[in-house]
Amino acid sequence: MNASSPSPAQNRATTTATLYGGVTNRRVTVRDLATAKQRGEKWSMLTAYDALTAGVFDEAGTPVLLVGDSAGNCHLGYETTVPVTMDQMVMLAAAVVRGTKRAMVVADLPFGSYQESPAQAMHNAARLMKDAGVGAVKLEGGERSARSIELLVEAGVPVMAHIGLTPQSVHALGGYPVQGRGDEAAHQLLRDAKAVQQAGAFAVVLEAVPAELARQVTEQLTVPTVGIGAGADCDAQVLVWTDFAGMTAGRVPKFVKQYANLRAVLGDAARAFAEDVRTSAFPAAEHTFH
Ligand code: KIV
Repeated sequence: MNASSPSPAQNRATTTATLYGGVTNRRVTVRDLATAKQRGEKWSMLTAYDALTAGVFDEAGTPVLLVGDSAGNCHLGYETTVPVTMDQMVMLAAAVVRGTKRAMVVADLPFGSYQESPAQAMHNAARLMKDAGVGAVKLEGGERSARSIELLVEAGVPVMAHIGLTPQSVHALGGYPVQGRGDEAAHQLLRDAKAVQQAGAFAVVLEAVPAELARQVTEQLTVPTVGIGAGADCDAQVLVWTDFAGMTAGRVPKFVKQYANLRAVLGDAARAFAEDVRTSAFPAAEHTFH
Protein backbone atom coordinates (compact mmCIF):
# COMPACT_ATOMS: atom_id res chain seq x y z
CA MET A 1 0.00 0.00 0.00
CA ASN A 2 1.57 3.33 -0.99
CA ALA A 3 1.04 6.65 0.80
CA SER A 4 -1.82 7.71 -1.47
CA SER A 5 -3.88 4.51 -1.31
CA PRO A 6 -6.61 4.38 1.32
CA SER A 7 -6.26 2.01 4.25
CA PRO A 8 -8.84 -0.83 4.38
CA ALA A 9 -10.67 1.07 7.14
CA GLN A 10 -10.76 4.28 5.05
CA ASN A 11 -11.95 2.26 2.09
CA ARG A 12 -14.81 0.76 4.10
CA ALA A 13 -15.73 4.25 5.33
CA THR A 14 -15.96 5.61 1.79
CA THR A 15 -17.45 2.65 -0.01
CA THR A 16 -20.04 1.23 2.35
CA ALA A 17 -21.63 4.40 3.75
CA THR A 18 -24.75 5.76 2.09
CA LEU A 19 -24.72 9.48 1.44
CA TYR A 20 -27.73 9.87 3.74
CA GLY A 21 -27.30 8.67 7.28
CA GLY A 22 -23.79 7.52 6.46
CA VAL A 23 -20.51 8.73 7.89
CA THR A 24 -21.12 12.01 9.72
CA ASN A 25 -17.72 12.74 11.23
CA ARG A 26 -16.09 13.94 8.01
CA ARG A 27 -16.99 15.75 4.84
CA VAL A 28 -18.49 13.98 1.83
CA THR A 29 -15.82 13.32 -0.80
CA VAL A 30 -15.69 12.76 -4.54
CA ARG A 31 -15.21 9.06 -3.83
CA ASP A 32 -18.49 8.95 -1.90
CA LEU A 33 -20.24 10.41 -4.95
CA ALA A 34 -18.56 7.93 -7.30
CA THR A 35 -19.63 4.96 -5.19
CA ALA A 36 -23.17 6.38 -4.88
CA LYS A 37 -23.42 6.20 -8.69
CA GLN A 38 -22.13 2.63 -8.68
CA ARG A 39 -24.81 1.49 -6.25
CA GLY A 40 -27.54 3.67 -7.85
CA GLU A 41 -28.09 5.99 -4.87
CA LYS A 42 -29.50 9.31 -6.02
CA TRP A 43 -28.60 12.47 -4.12
CA SER A 44 -29.60 16.11 -3.82
CA MET A 45 -27.55 19.28 -4.07
CA LEU A 46 -28.73 22.74 -3.00
CA THR A 47 -27.17 26.12 -3.48
CA ALA A 48 -26.18 28.13 -0.40
CA TYR A 49 -24.68 31.59 -0.07
CA ASP A 50 -24.33 32.11 3.69
CA ALA A 51 -23.34 30.20 6.83
CA LEU A 52 -26.79 30.12 8.45
CA THR A 53 -28.73 28.64 5.53
CA ALA A 54 -25.88 26.29 4.68
CA GLY A 55 -25.93 25.02 8.27
CA VAL A 56 -29.64 24.19 7.99
CA PHE A 57 -29.08 22.15 4.81
CA ASP A 58 -25.99 20.48 6.30
CA GLU A 59 -27.96 19.40 9.38
CA ALA A 60 -30.70 18.11 7.06
CA GLY A 61 -28.11 15.81 5.44
CA THR A 62 -27.75 17.46 2.03
CA PRO A 63 -24.49 15.89 0.88
CA VAL A 64 -23.31 18.59 -1.55
CA LEU A 65 -23.78 22.36 -1.27
CA LEU A 66 -23.08 24.59 -4.24
CA VAL A 67 -21.99 28.15 -3.71
CA GLY A 68 -23.36 28.98 -7.13
CA ASP A 69 -22.74 32.21 -8.98
CA SER A 70 -26.56 32.24 -8.98
CA ALA A 71 -25.71 34.28 -5.86
CA GLY A 72 -25.63 37.11 -8.41
CA ASN A 73 -29.38 37.09 -9.03
CA CYS A 74 -30.54 35.17 -5.93
CA HIS A 75 -28.54 36.87 -3.18
CA LEU A 76 -26.72 39.99 -4.41
CA GLY A 77 -29.48 41.66 -6.39
CA TYR A 78 -27.99 41.52 -9.90
CA GLU A 79 -30.07 40.52 -12.93
CA THR A 80 -27.72 37.77 -14.07
CA THR A 81 -24.68 35.85 -12.85
CA VAL A 82 -22.34 37.81 -15.12
CA PRO A 83 -21.29 40.61 -12.70
CA VAL A 84 -20.27 38.23 -9.88
CA THR A 85 -16.59 38.61 -8.94
CA MET A 86 -13.97 36.29 -7.46
CA ASP A 87 -13.83 38.38 -4.27
CA GLN A 88 -17.58 37.92 -3.80
CA MET A 89 -17.37 34.18 -4.45
CA VAL A 90 -14.52 33.77 -1.95
CA MET A 91 -16.47 35.64 0.73
CA LEU A 92 -19.70 33.66 0.18
CA ALA A 93 -17.92 30.30 -0.12
CA ALA A 94 -15.91 30.87 3.06
CA ALA A 95 -19.16 31.54 4.94
CA VAL A 96 -20.72 28.33 3.62
CA VAL A 97 -17.65 26.31 4.61
CA ARG A 98 -17.71 27.85 8.11
CA GLY A 99 -21.41 27.04 8.50
CA THR A 100 -21.10 23.35 7.61
CA LYS A 101 -19.44 20.18 8.90
CA ARG A 102 -20.39 17.35 6.59
CA ALA A 103 -21.40 18.60 3.14
CA MET A 104 -18.94 18.79 0.29
CA VAL A 105 -18.82 22.49 -0.59
CA VAL A 106 -18.44 23.25 -4.29
CA ALA A 107 -17.95 26.84 -5.46
CA ASP A 108 -18.49 28.31 -8.90
CA LEU A 109 -15.71 29.99 -10.81
CA PRO A 110 -17.57 33.15 -11.89
CA PHE A 111 -17.68 34.65 -15.39
CA GLY A 112 -14.29 35.98 -16.47
CA SER A 113 -12.33 34.05 -13.86
CA TYR A 114 -11.32 31.03 -16.01
CA GLN A 115 -12.13 31.57 -19.71
CA GLU A 116 -8.81 33.28 -20.57
CA SER A 117 -6.57 30.27 -20.00
CA PRO A 118 -6.08 27.11 -17.94
CA ALA A 119 -3.52 29.10 -15.90
CA GLN A 120 -6.16 31.70 -15.01
CA ALA A 121 -8.57 28.89 -14.04
CA MET A 122 -5.88 27.35 -11.82
CA HIS A 123 -5.06 30.66 -10.14
CA ASN A 124 -8.71 31.31 -9.22
CA ALA A 125 -9.53 27.71 -8.28
CA ALA A 126 -6.58 27.85 -5.86
CA ARG A 127 -8.05 31.01 -4.29
CA LEU A 128 -11.37 29.24 -3.69
CA MET A 129 -9.61 26.26 -2.13
CA LYS A 130 -7.06 28.18 -0.04
CA ASP A 131 -8.95 31.35 0.94
CA ALA A 132 -12.48 29.89 1.22
CA GLY A 133 -11.67 26.24 2.00
CA VAL A 134 -14.00 24.64 -0.57
CA GLY A 135 -13.61 20.99 -1.55
CA ALA A 136 -14.25 21.45 -5.27
CA VAL A 137 -14.95 24.05 -7.95
CA LYS A 138 -17.48 24.18 -10.78
CA LEU A 139 -17.07 25.79 -14.16
CA GLU A 140 -19.23 26.09 -17.24
CA GLY A 141 -18.53 24.68 -20.70
CA GLY A 142 -17.94 21.29 -22.33
CA GLU A 143 -15.26 20.80 -24.98
CA ARG A 144 -14.30 24.47 -24.69
CA SER A 145 -13.39 24.07 -21.00
CA ALA A 146 -11.76 20.63 -21.20
CA ARG A 147 -8.15 21.89 -21.15
CA SER A 148 -8.77 23.92 -18.01
CA ILE A 149 -10.50 21.00 -16.30
CA GLU A 150 -7.55 18.75 -17.16
CA LEU A 151 -5.03 21.16 -15.63
CA LEU A 152 -7.08 21.66 -12.47
CA VAL A 153 -7.59 17.92 -11.98
CA GLU A 154 -3.89 17.23 -12.56
CA ALA A 155 -3.15 19.83 -9.87
CA GLY A 156 -5.50 18.13 -7.38
CA VAL A 157 -8.60 20.31 -7.74
CA PRO A 158 -11.84 18.31 -7.96
CA VAL A 159 -13.94 19.82 -10.78
CA MET A 160 -17.68 19.68 -11.32
CA ALA A 161 -18.49 20.53 -14.94
CA HIS A 162 -21.64 22.37 -16.08
CA ILE A 163 -23.03 21.87 -19.60
CA GLY A 164 -26.32 22.36 -21.43
CA LEU A 165 -27.66 25.78 -20.50
CA THR A 166 -24.72 27.77 -19.16
CA PRO A 167 -26.12 30.94 -17.53
CA GLN A 168 -22.83 32.86 -17.80
CA SER A 169 -23.49 32.87 -21.58
CA VAL A 170 -26.92 34.47 -21.17
CA HIS A 171 -26.07 37.39 -23.44
CA ALA A 172 -24.71 35.14 -26.20
CA LEU A 173 -27.68 32.77 -25.91
CA GLY A 174 -30.24 35.58 -25.82
CA GLY A 175 -31.87 34.27 -22.64
CA TYR A 176 -32.16 30.86 -21.01
CA PRO A 177 -33.40 28.50 -23.78
CA VAL A 178 -33.53 24.70 -23.40
CA GLN A 179 -30.36 23.18 -24.90
CA GLY A 180 -29.69 19.97 -26.84
CA ARG A 181 -32.87 19.97 -28.93
CA GLY A 182 -32.38 18.54 -32.43
CA ASP A 183 -29.82 16.00 -33.66
CA GLU A 184 -26.79 18.28 -34.00
CA ALA A 185 -27.31 19.96 -30.61
CA ALA A 186 -27.87 16.57 -28.94
CA HIS A 187 -24.64 15.18 -30.46
CA GLN A 188 -22.74 18.27 -29.30
CA LEU A 189 -24.09 17.83 -25.75
CA LEU A 190 -22.94 14.19 -25.73
CA ARG A 191 -19.51 15.27 -27.02
CA ASP A 192 -19.35 17.95 -24.28
CA ALA A 193 -20.29 15.44 -21.58
CA LYS A 194 -17.65 12.95 -22.73
CA ALA A 195 -15.01 15.67 -23.07
CA VAL A 196 -15.42 16.89 -19.48
CA GLN A 197 -15.47 13.34 -18.12
CA GLN A 198 -12.34 12.52 -20.13
CA ALA A 199 -10.72 15.68 -18.74
CA GLY A 200 -11.32 14.39 -15.22
CA ALA A 201 -14.51 16.09 -13.98
CA PHE A 202 -15.97 14.15 -11.02
CA ALA A 203 -19.59 15.15 -11.85
CA VAL A 204 -21.45 16.99 -14.58
CA VAL A 205 -24.34 19.41 -14.13
CA LEU A 206 -26.87 19.16 -16.97
CA GLU A 207 -29.03 22.28 -17.09
CA ALA A 208 -32.22 22.71 -19.17
CA VAL A 209 -31.80 19.63 -21.33
CA PRO A 210 -34.56 17.31 -22.64
CA ALA A 211 -35.09 14.41 -20.23
CA GLU A 212 -34.45 11.77 -22.92
CA LEU A 213 -31.06 13.27 -23.77
CA ALA A 214 -30.13 13.64 -20.10
CA ARG A 215 -30.94 9.93 -19.60
CA GLN A 216 -28.66 9.02 -22.53
CA VAL A 217 -25.83 11.14 -21.10
CA THR A 218 -26.34 9.63 -17.63
CA GLU A 219 -26.18 6.09 -19.05
CA GLN A 220 -23.05 6.83 -21.08
CA LEU A 221 -21.06 8.55 -18.33
CA THR A 222 -19.35 6.77 -15.45
CA VAL A 223 -19.36 9.97 -13.35
CA PRO A 224 -22.62 11.26 -11.83
CA THR A 225 -24.86 13.70 -13.67
CA VAL A 226 -26.58 16.41 -11.63
CA GLY A 227 -29.78 17.58 -13.29
CA ILE A 228 -31.55 20.92 -13.14
CA GLY A 229 -34.38 20.96 -15.64
CA ALA A 230 -33.01 17.70 -17.06
CA GLY A 231 -35.64 15.12 -16.06
CA ALA A 232 -35.75 12.39 -13.46
CA ASP A 233 -33.04 10.04 -14.72
CA CYS A 234 -29.97 12.04 -13.69
CA ASP A 235 -27.92 10.60 -10.82
CA ALA A 236 -28.54 13.70 -8.70
CA GLN A 237 -30.72 16.81 -8.73
CA VAL A 238 -29.83 20.40 -7.84
CA LEU A 239 -32.11 23.33 -7.07
CA VAL A 240 -31.36 26.94 -6.22
CA TRP A 241 -32.30 27.29 -2.55
CA THR A 242 -34.26 30.53 -2.91
CA ASP A 243 -36.41 28.85 -5.61
CA PHE A 244 -37.03 25.57 -3.76
CA ALA A 245 -37.86 27.35 -0.48
CA GLY A 246 -40.25 29.87 -2.06
CA MET A 247 -38.11 32.96 -1.38
CA THR A 248 -37.88 34.03 -5.02
CA ALA A 249 -40.18 36.89 -6.02
CA GLY A 250 -42.36 36.30 -9.08
CA ARG A 251 -42.17 33.42 -11.54
CA VAL A 252 -39.73 30.56 -11.13
CA PRO A 253 -38.59 28.27 -13.97
CA LYS A 254 -40.82 25.30 -14.93
CA PHE A 255 -38.31 22.82 -13.47
CA VAL A 256 -38.56 24.22 -9.93
CA LYS A 257 -40.63 22.50 -7.25
CA GLN A 258 -41.33 24.74 -4.24
CA TYR A 259 -40.99 22.82 -0.97
CA ALA A 260 -41.82 25.77 1.29
CA ASN A 261 -43.19 29.29 1.09
CA LEU A 262 -40.61 31.25 3.06
CA ARG A 263 -41.34 34.54 1.31
CA ALA A 264 -44.92 34.49 2.64
CA VAL A 265 -43.81 33.27 6.09
CA LEU A 266 -41.24 36.07 6.47
CA GLY A 267 -43.56 38.69 5.04
CA ASP A 268 -46.28 37.68 7.53
CA ALA A 269 -43.75 37.78 10.38
CA ALA A 270 -42.58 41.30 9.39
CA ARG A 271 -46.19 42.54 9.18
CA ALA A 272 -47.07 40.99 12.57
CA PHE A 273 -43.98 42.58 14.17
CA ALA A 274 -44.88 46.00 12.72
CA GLU A 275 -48.42 45.68 14.05
CA ASP A 276 -47.19 44.69 17.54
CA VAL A 277 -44.87 47.70 17.60
CA ARG A 278 -47.62 50.04 16.38
CA THR A 279 -49.99 48.83 19.14
CA SER A 280 -47.28 48.55 21.84
CA ALA A 281 -47.97 44.80 22.15
CA PHE A 282 -44.21 44.35 21.73
CA PRO A 283 -42.04 44.36 23.78
CA ALA A 284 -44.11 42.65 26.48
CA ALA A 285 -43.06 42.10 30.10
CA GLU A 286 -41.13 38.90 29.24
CA HIS A 287 -38.95 40.79 26.73
CA THR A 288 -38.13 43.61 29.15
CA PHE A 289 -35.23 44.17 31.61
CA HIS A 290 -35.72 45.95 34.96
O1 KIV B 1 -25.03 28.92 -9.99
C1 KIV B 1 -25.80 27.99 -9.77
O2 KIV B 1 -26.60 28.01 -8.82
C2 KIV B 1 -25.76 26.84 -10.65
C3 KIV B 1 -26.85 25.82 -10.51
C4 KIV B 1 -28.07 26.33 -11.14
C5 KIV B 1 -26.44 24.51 -11.05
O3 KIV B 1 -24.90 26.75 -11.47
